[in-house]
Amino acid sequence: MISSLKQSTLALSGPDFHRSRSPVPTLTRHLPFLPQVNTRRNFIVSLSKPLHIVSPEAFSTSLKKSLKHEKKQSLITCKAYEADKSEPISDSPGAKSEAARRVKIGIYFATWWALNVVFNIYNKKVLNAFPFPWLTSTLSLATGSLIMLISWALRIAETPKTDLDFWKTLFPVAVAHTIGHVAATVSMSKVAVSFTHIIKSGEPAFSVLVSRFLLGETFPPSVYLSLVPIIGGCGLAALTELNFNMTGFMGAMISNLAFVFRNIFSKKGMKGKSVSGMNYYACLSMLSLLILTPFAIAVEGPQMWTLGFKESLSQIGPQIVWWMAAQSVFYHLYNQVSYMSLDEISPLTFSIGNTMKRISVIVSSIIIFHTPVQPINALGAAIAILGTFLYSQAKQ
Ligand code: 3PG
Repeated sequence: MISSLKQSTLALSGPDFHRSRSPVPTLTRHLPFLPQVNTRRNFIVSLSKPLHIVSPEAFSTSLKKSLKHEKKQSLITCKAYEADKSEPISDSPGAKSEAARRVKIGIYFATWWALNVVFNIYNKKVLNAFPFPWLTSTLSLATGSLIMLISWALRIAETPKTDLDFWKTLFPVAVAHTIGHVAATVSMSKVAVSFTHIIKSGEPAFSVLVSRFLLGETFPPSVYLSLVPIIGGCGLAALTELNFNMTGFMGAMISNLAFVFRNIFSKKGMKGKSVSGMNYYACLSMLSLLILTPFAIAVEGPQMWTLGFKESLSQIGPQIVWWMAAQSVFYHLYNQVSYMSLDEISPLTFSIGNTMKRISVIVSSIIIFHTPVQPINALGAAIAILGTFLYSQAKQ
């Protein structure tokens, strides 16, 4: 007889089992009371059957140790599994739920990319006609906050139970989110959407450099090597960009750095908190809105906004209002879906999904805005994107 674990909400995949999630490490679903097992040989969870323990010895030692620390009721119940059970594994409810989970993740990814493409298009249309990135950033956070407040009030979404501690740990995450969001929008107000996203595909390089030099983390040589095409590709794309602008370039670079810190802060601060991905993002939007509003007023201000709005209204017509609404709503929706998908996948899968998302945005924005691209520039982008894939593999 072999012991087995049953968990109601999530089937875990091998290498992700002990990995904390970023940027939403809210997952009590990660069976947090199981301590880390060092080697692959000791791996206690099998992929072939859901949460099927292949080394009962390792499991029982782990469990004994961890139960000392975990007095509360466990999320997991241990039950016996008959080794010679005749039911084929592929027909088991676990296999079916794993297939359903994959379909769900596929739908999340497709929705996330589609919403992101639409957001980027409307965002650029708005910024072309109404070049006030601080206000458009504020509006997108305000719209998201409003959508979520209404959803909570109408009980469409469950209101999260939060305490002061939650908001305190969320604060640095929100500061980094605000900076990253404004910086990306400023960048897109100055350069082509595709260029901003090519530079933003260099985020893994920032992640490794910050982790190495500020946190003292070390990585295998393959991870450092994967930074060569990322940095080289981004550099080549920047040098050959026809409409290069330093503010646009720096905005994308600052956004990369800020989002790395956002991930680090959320990983550090949110361990053990159980707020869903959707609500986590809702709270993040609200806090970011509070942080951003005074700065937006100070940097741009109502006077400039009024003048700019009148100008854009005379050029575009009332349609500009719909564009603004669309960019704000789609900003919230794509982020909400991406945070919801984080409830289901590992950070690694997420980062691969994010890279694929950038490819869809780069290609679609080049087509829609007729962005002139030189072959050497496209080569730089392709090398950078390839580098992010190599990075994902090396991190594995
Ligand atoms: C923003 O405005 O926050 C950026 O466009 C975000 O970019 P990302 O979600 O693609 O990193």
